[in-house]
Amino acid sequence: MAPGKAAATTDAAATTDSTAAAGAGLARKAIEDIEAVEDIEDIDLDEVYAYPPSAAHTPYIRANFVASVDGAAEVGGRSGPLGGEADLRVFRLLRWLSDVVLVGAGTARTENYGPVVIPPERRERRVAAGLAAVPPIAVVTATAGFDPGARLFRGEIRPVLLTCETAPLDRRRRLAAVADIAICGGSAVEPDLAVRALAERGMTRILTEGGPLLHSQLAAAGLLDELCLTIAPVLAGPGRLGIMKGEPWPAPAALTLTQILAEDDVLFLRYRR
Ligand SMILES: NC(=O)c1ccc[n+]([C@@H]2O[C@H](COP(=O)([O-])OP(=O)(O)OC[C@H]3O[C@@H](n4cnc5c(N)ncnc54)[C@H](OP(=O)(O)O)[C@@H]3O)[C@@H](O)[C@H]2O)c1
Repeated sequence: MAPGKAAATTDAAATTDSTAAAGAGLARKAIEDIEAVEDIEDIDLDEVYAYPPSAAHTPYIRANFVASVDGAAEVGGRSGPLGGEADLRVFRLLRWLSDVVLVGAGTARTENYGPVVIPPERRERRVAAGLAAVPPIAVVTATAGFDPGARLFRGEIRPVLLTCETAPLDRRRRLAAVADIAICGGSAVEPDLAVRALAERGMTRILTEGGPLLHSQLAAAGLLDELCLTIAPVLAGPGRLGIMKGEPWPAPAALTLTQILAEDDVLFLRYRR
């Protein structure tokens, strides 16, 4: 095994078994239940991250986040400092597999979102697989506070703006020239109505890139099917935003770990609800 590369499943289990006597049974069971511990350079990411077949017609929401080891989702207000080359590869692949990329307006603004970029050979693969050539960005917003000239609206595909009745009418009218507007609630977007609006547009393989406020609402509504979490090998320190924000939940929601991939010191974890 090359230095810095991930251990295979059996290596990890054996190490656990010989070094952690009392906890070994529990840890080993967890590792046996997951798919693999592999180097992402050696695996077919398309196969590993394929959506379940039912997602072609029934909404399936996958979230993708990068976080530091101590749980920070941003450094200096941006996620960029946490992601590296391997994370970017997975980030792009997850976009390439989706019908739509769903984000909150905070993330779209902070990260200066533009249209999704799909390389030509990927477009062909997507179309052959029954997807549109390019997935639109769908943005959840109560204020509709976007400049119609923003980068987000300059692609070949119109973004979807998922907004609500209280969004100022003049803004909605201006944005209707550059985006597909869907009203999904009264004073806020209701997550289930947003998902329904996307499904009505034939978008059921939904990739959400957050941010934390939208993420927590989707999860609280029981709509989040999967969480892909990249753990960057850094400590960001106190005072950072995590991958959830908003109203506290009455109780934690249990997840099942289904996959561990690695490249050097970066972990790619995957959980199902
Ligand atoms: N590490 C990562 O992978 C990652 C991923 C994404 C984001 N981030 C970081 O997270 C930070 C942004 O976090 P955030 O929580 O503010 O972002 P967010 O969830 O993307 O955006 C919050 C905004 O989305 C809109 N929104 C959310 N829920 C809504 C609802 N139910 N109804 C109507 N509008 C709704 C509102 O926009 P309006 O104000 O327009 O009404 C709200 O202000 C940034 O620092 C970003 O870098 C990190």
